[in-house]
Amino acid sequence: MNGQTGNGSLGAAFKTRLFTGLLTSARIPSMEGGYGAKVYDQIYRWKDYDGETRRLKEILSAHGKPSGTLLDVACGTGQHLLRLQDDFTVEGLELDPEMALLARERGLTIHLGDMAETETGGQYDVVTCLFSSIGYMETPERLHRAVKNLANHAAPGGLVVVEPWFAPDQWYDGYVHMDTVNEGKLKICRMSVSRTDGPVSVMDLHHMVATSEGVETFVTRHRMGLFVDWEYVDAFEAAGLTVEKDAEGLMGRGLFIGRKAPAR
Ligand SMILES: C[S@@+](CC[C@H](N)C(=O)[O-])C[C@H]1O[C@@H](n2cnc3c(N)ncnc32)[C@H](O)[C@@H]1O
Repeated sequence: MNGQTGNGSLGAAFKTRLFTGLLTSARIPSMEGGYGAKVYDQIYRWKDYDGETRRLKEILSAHGKPSGTLLDVACGTGQHLLRLQDDFTVEGLELDPEMALLARERGLTIHLGDMAETETGGQYDVVTCLFSSIGYMETPERLHRAVKNLANHAAPGGLVVVEPWFAPDQWYDGYVHMDTVNEGKLKICRMSVSRTDGPVSVMDLHHMVATSEGVETFVTRHRMGLFVDWEYVDAFEAAGLTVEKDAEGLMGRGLFIGRKAPAR
């Protein structure tokens, strides 16, 4: 899908989203208006999924898990999973049905649900939650529930790997942000101004998307908890995991690596 600017399907998809999807979609806690699935891969073309996945594999190998089964929670359109499936038998869990659909269209097995509640019915050698998706838990109580749920999905001796969202001292109220895509038949502009609501970061992402069928606009609202390190550590330990932090992680945001006790 990256770099595709075909006018037919993309234009039709936006029309569907605007007239039947966006206006009628149920409110998703922390993520009003869905995730913007139709533009996700284009907007994040700058993201080095190849390099990140290589680094993740190094980290997993160094922790004794070079292969096995892996569940990626909040897997989005499946970008990490696609690159992990050579070494792991992979599955994903995702809240937004449109994101899940795109991942499924890529041949991936995706469970639909909320990372704080949903059980896939399996246990995995590795459970990941990447690109700061954990921030959508918004409150420490939901953070604890989510990490407990991730831990429940880890097999004995398995790993739980979480890439955190920003801490309060890394978040700037009033920061003005813009991402653009400028292809022949596809132009996207996504703008936001960072806001803070107590310990929660709030972003209204204003999208303008132009295809040869016209210009569509929509807004998605994102509320993400600004947790500090000890809150993550607390959640891991409360879930019965030993935890360490890799300061750099996959993209400079750090990485919490938890381990479940092996079977006795
Ligand atoms: C920044 S994207 C990351 C997607 C993917 N991990 C990646 O690296 O491209 C955040 C993802 O979290 C998902 N998400 C948000 N809240 C969730 C929840 N409660 N349970 C599961 N997924 C959730 C969103 O739908 C979105 O796909």
